[in-house]
Amino acid sequence: MSLQLKPRVAVRAKISSVGTYLPPRLLTNADLEKTVDTTDQWILERTGIRERHIVEPGQATSDMATEAARDCLAKRGVDPSEVDCIIVGTVTPDMLFPSTACLVQDKLGASKAWGFDLSAACSAFTYSLQVGAKLVESGAHKKVLVIGGDTMSSIVDYTDRSTCILFGDGAGAVLLEPCEEGEVGLIDFYHEVDGSGGSALCMPAGGSLHPPSLETVTNRQHYIKQDGQTVYKFAVRKMMEASERVLTANGITGADIAAFIPHQANKRIILSTAERLGLPEDRVVINIDRYGNTTGGTIPLAMGTAIEEGRLKKGDLVLLASVGAGFTVGATLLRWEF
Ligand code: UT7
Repeated sequence: MSLQLKPRVAVRAKISSVGTYLPPRLLTNADLEKTVDTTDQWILERTGIRERHIVEPGQATSDMATEAARDCLAKRGVDPSEVDCIIVGTVTPDMLFPSTACLVQDKLGASKAWGFDLSAACSAFTYSLQVGAKLVESGAHKKVLVIGGDTMSSIVDYTDRSTCILFGDGAGAVLLEPCEEGEVGLIDFYHEVDGSGGSALCMPAGGSLHPPSLETVTNRQHYIKQDGQTVYKFAVRKMMEASERVLTANGITGADIAAFIPHQANKRIILSTAERLGLPEDRVVINIDRYGNTTGGTIPLAMGTAIEEGRLKKGDLVLLASVGAGFTVGATLLRWEF
């Protein structure tokens, strides 16, 4: 008897819903002025950040990710039991294992979903989006939840003024589904990794190289270490290069983009990328003033901001771009479909 292999139908994937979650507690620049040698003016001028949201003790990445996922599914009228797969892009999992995706699957009640975490720091969402899209495009799945979220306050050294002013906590989620007739959805992406930049932004201890010990704790190695200038220069160059690559490959320019939704690490990086791409400021989505850098959370949270502000309509061309620790670089071109 011959084997009956089920053919996989090639389809396109689209974002069909966006959900967000931010913990209510605020950490303002004025609060930080009281704990480290900094000023509201320095932070605002150098980064564009005014305040960030911070979790309550006991609240972890899976809690925020679950809330964002609930919001996302409710907006689309989808029951958690319909979700096929959950991908969580994060650098601050609740614990090394089990994965945050497993914890979210349980908290959400996504009874038939499998899932996993994806580690790409600030590019975690753009990378997870592509992996999720491929699961839809292959015909394997019809509903994939892609979540980006980080509890940065769990790895920030609040005695280091060069990093503690930058980061916040938050999560965003999107639902990926097959496109309907006439829809285009996710069009193209360009990803790049430059592993030689690893030491410029990292958390040195807690992994297999330097397992937690009295020494690693005493040496404050369980916190973010960043060479800000090196990361800044790389980010300005690569956000632009990756964006340009994906635009050129599709025969378009910045002028065709209705909304540029970049990773929110520094307002100066965002604006200089937009300027080089020929994108006016009113097409750039910026919420770093309110949320700071939430790492995996920034792009889906910025999608939420764009929706709130009525800046996205069906058929719009949208460009996403990210640079993060690794270094990881990503750009995605898509049509907004709701
Ligand atoms: O999402 C992950 C990717 N991360 C990024 O994209 C971050 C990229 N880097 C940056 O955004 C910027 O490099 C920072 C915002 C982190 C720093 O801004 P900068 O303009 O590059 O400042 P700097 O590191 O060159 O420091 C300039 C001065 C230094 O003082 P001296 O040596 O000139 O006396 C710092 O000590 O500013 C000082 N400084 C501060 N002063 C007041 C550093 N942090 C602070 C602070 N308040 N919070």
